[in-house]
Amino acid sequence: MISRRVFLAASGAALMTRPAAGSSVAALRAAPGTAQLAPADYAPTPIWGYGAKVPGPEIRIPQGGELSRRLINELPQATTIHWHGIRIDNAMDGVPDMTQAAVLPGESFDYSFRVPDAGTYWYHPHNRTWEQLARGLYGALVVVEETPPDVDADLVLLIDDWRFAADATLHESFGSLRDWSHAGRIGNWVTVNGVGEYAQPVKAGARLRLRLVNVANARIFPLVLRGFEARVVALDGQPLDAPRVVERITLAPAQRADLIVDVTASEGETAHILEEDREGLLAVADFPVEGRSGRTPGAPLIALPPNPVPRLGDLDQAPRAVLRMEGGAMGRMSGAMMGGRMMAPRDLAGEGKVWAFNGMAELPESPLIAADLGQTVRIAMINDTAWPHAMHLHGHHFRVIGPEGKGPLRDTTLVNPDETVEIAFVADNPGDWLLHCHMVEHSAGGMMTWIRVGA
Ligand code: C2O
Ligand code: CU
Repeated sequence: MISRRVFLAASGAALMTRPAAGSSVAALRAAPGTAQLAPADYAPTPIWGYGAKVPGPEIRIPQGGELSRRLINELPQATTIHWHGIRIDNAMDGVPDMTQAAVLPGESFDYSFRVPDAGTYWYHPHNRTWEQLARGLYGALVVVEETPPDVDADLVLLIDDWRFAADATLHESFGSLRDWSHAGRIGNWVTVNGVGEYAQPVKAGARLRLRLVNVANARIFPLVLRGFEARVVALDGQPLDAPRVVERITLAPAQRADLIVDVTASEGETAHILEEDREGLLAVADFPVEGRSGRTPGAPLIALPPNPVPRLGDLDQAPRAVLRMEGGAMGRMSGAMMGGRMMAPRDLAGEGKVWAFNGMAELPESPLIAADLGQTVRIAMINDTAWPHAMHLHGHHFRVIGPEGKGPLRDTTLVNPDETVEIAFVADNPGDWLLHCHMVEHSAGGMMTWIRVGA
């Protein structure tokens, strides 16, 4: 009989050495811990984190490589890991009751999969995400190109907002239906990589790659860049055909943007990433400029190499599903189906459901669309609510299609109130895949459906 303590020590040792084939994989513990999220005059905040830290360990892996991690659940509740944005083997997607059973406290689960696409991804729980993500369970997953672009630094910025009580403990309002039916759990303190008032010294004239990730439960970050000449080179991991100069960029929950920036602020000044708020500009990340880089200014910037995502087929031939979003505060929803019967909003709320997709407040039994393997499909998402929603498709990247043509490849797209956004993608990854709002209170509150690819 091996005691739990001995088992944990043994798997810890596996981190030190490269595991031989068939031996134990590197551990990723989901565990309670503390983090100095607030200024130093506050006590550290009790959190849940991977490796008991916020953020969890940054995972870097070469494109095409195999990623293996043993999730060890030391939380007081069941959990899973979803590898957001990875076009992954379905069995490794981390969706409880769909691709795996949730991992109970004290148990473990081995994830092992190949990463086909270079880019910026992240990992987070997919069980009680509205609580587990808010408590700090997330980490960056960076898949490195064979020949990465020439930059002076490659920085990941995991941008989060926290809802603190006055003593900088996490406010216990996790299941608040008021949040669920409005914008979600919006915080009152912003961190980057678990640090409040994040500051990263840089050199004047330096070229940096900034991998921005919105890991907040529900907050949309409209970001403004100052003191940089910035170009977006990838969105949600996928390279743009050509780098695009930007001064501002909006990141909805779960979205990523890879920027390559040249520091244009001078020595002694500070470059900034700011959040544009109703009241003005709020600091997200500061980059004090210290010293000068030796880099020749104005070096050309070429696009990142594309990932092996299949091209869209003929859109006129593509089957098209319609997804109508309803509910929420100030909405028009008169009722929705749950447990096989029509329920009024008040009764739905009693079950924690405040939204619906196509009149269903829970995951439907049949998929929104069943696609043949390799088929190009379209989904029109109609936002008949008073709130924006960040719609995320698992296992695939899609393009928004519209009168202006096809947008860039993404895995999460914002759909504003009264807007219809139509996406198209090649359903080339077999399995059952979720399509849900990534304002995680909204998905728990009813904004979740799924598609089936292949038999
Ligand atoms: Cu990042 Cu279904 O989630
Ligand atoms: Cu939503």
